[in-house]
Amino acid sequence: MAKTRTTYFCQNCGYESAKWLGKCPSCNEWNTFVEEVVEKTGTRTPDWRTTADPTKRPNKAAAIHEIVHAEEIRRITPDKELNRVLGGGIVPGSLVLIGGEPGIGKSTLMLQLALNMPGTKTLYISGEESEQQLKLRAERLVQSSKADCYILTETSTQNIFKQIESTKPDLVIIDSIQTLHSARIDSTPGSVSQVRECTAELLRFAKETATPVFVVGHITKDGTIAGPKVLEHMVDTVLQFEGDQHHVYRILRAIKNRFGSAAELGIYEMQGTGLREVSNPSEILLSQREHTMSGISIAAMLEGLRPMLIEVQALVSNSAYGTPQRSSTGFDARRLNMLLAVLEKRFGFRLSAQDVFLNIAGGLRVEDPAIDLAVITAIISSQQDISMAATIAFAGEVGLSGEIRAVNRIEQRIAEAEKLGFEAIYISKYNTKGLDSSKYQIEIKPVAKVEEVFQAVFG
Ligand code: TYD
Ligand code: MG
Repeated sequence: MAKTRTTYFCQNCGYESAKWLGKCPSCNEWNTFVEEVVEKTGTRTPDWRTTADPTKRPNKAAAIHEIVHAEEIRRITPDKELNRVLGGGIVPGSLVLIGGEPGIGKSTLMLQLALNMPGTKTLYISGEESEQQLKLRAERLVQSSKADCYILTETSTQNIFKQIESTKPDLVIIDSIQTLHSARIDSTPGSVSQVRECTAELLRFAKETATPVFVVGHITKDGTIAGPKVLEHMVDTVLQFEGDQHHVYRILRAIKNRFGSAAELGIYEMQGTGLREVSNPSEILLSQREHTMSGISIAAMLEGLRPMLIEVQALVSNSAYGTPQRSSTGFDARRLNMLLAVLEKRFGFRLSAQDVFLNIAGGLRVEDPAIDLAVITAIISSQQDISMAATIAFAGEVGLSGEIRAVNRIEQRIAEAEKLGFEAIYISKYNTKGLDSSKYQIEIKPVAKVEEVFQAVFG
């Protein structure tokens, strides 16, 4: 009788142990070990390599100077946002993981890609939906008549590779990795060892045939890709699809990219006919308003390499309870507390008895420190109930003594504000070195201290 081999895996990070452990030595989580059947001896079934002809491509070591550098032949997709996030198109043989919460639009994004790649034979493999469901979904989406798209509903990797061999696609999409199972491993689909094995098989396939593979992966509640962290190490690129299910805007963010910048981001709008690319993000990040209101300030931000103007909204009101509330959406709460302390200590604003709410428009999560200046002006604008002109933008980091510090790529920020019709932008005095302000129509106002800004905008 075949002997079964089992191993314990940490469901959080993928750490492997021969015996059960209460606490994971790798990620320090408690109670995360689950026993999984790894393999029955004597039941090794072939993966895709045994069916492919091994003589076709002998894999031997080559001296690095002998390797001819082929022109990078990326496959440019019709989706400009996706191209941008991937670093300029799809790299042959790359394995791309797309993570996101259920219902965010991963399947829509991938099917839309499959339906709009002219001259590329695309195989969309779904383990989640039936052919009829996919057809129904496809009918809702915008599609190119020249697309060469094939659908397969299958979950066994061995069958998938058989189909791949007969179809010979140029691009493979797997929806999702958690539904796949390999016959080489006995545990259930979605378990750490299955996810790892299936990804490894797909990785070998992608590298040896230079076929790009997109893999959809679900995300757990705490924001990590379900299954092990090891998955992120195995693939070339990790993209995260985020946004609120109740908002129409979605952000595709590169978290890791072997072939491009990991700071890129793409923005989409979910419509009845699928996802629309948003090429001018400021259009959604600045709310349309007729007259100016207090508590609103505009920051000239960079998300990755992309400049955008974004609205910061603050509401300061007298606290009804003993402990004032501080709440922020899209901005680090600790940083908000720090800025409030600076305002209180350095400038004497009595904020400690007031509730402060801060919101970044559009559901974006901002980490760029250049937003500080807009945050404090929004807070003071609300507290003093003085509105600012809607044509002013801010870009500067605020230090602990109330100084305004320089931020990176100031020219890009100024140019974006100018493009969008802003009339003035406040920047740090330390950012003006080498800056040719005569190039711009927009008025550049260098400031060194927070009080100078308050003087200028609130009088
Ligand atoms: P889906 O791609 O199924 O999400 P995921 O694969 O990440 O779980 O997205 C489903 C949501 O998108 C669903 O709530 C319906 C909505 N949707 C639209 O608004 N318009 C469309 O054209 C499509 C296809 C879906
Ligand atoms: Mg889906």
